[in-house]
Amino acid sequence: MSPRLVRAGTDAVGRTETPLTITVDGEPLDGVAGQTIAGVLLASGRRSWREGPSGAPRGVFCGIGVCFDCLVTVNGARDVRACRRRAADGDTVTTQSRAEGEER
Ligand code: FES
Repeated sequence: MSPRLVRAGTDAVGRTETPLTITVDGEPLDGVAGQTIAGVLLASGRRSWREGPSGAPRGVFCGIGVCFDCLVTVNGARDVRACRRRAADGDTVTTQSRAEGEER
């Protein structure tokens, strides 16, 4: 299964999802209403967006809110689990690193 985003206008099934746009580290990313922030990131081709204490890349590991590997800052709130937070149109997402304890 591919995580890529099939835009509703080009989907042969004729979906009617509501499009949305979030900004991740200043880059606008398209998604659809109901997607999690992790879903939008994965659909954009990103597999990791932060680093663990060892510097190893982190993104979605469990996908159900247990591992905390997917943490991001959303609209100024740190340590939001991207796999549990539904994306909202206009959300501003900033990646963060556990190794540094600061946003990139
Ligand atoms: S991927 Fe495990 S908490 Fe988000």
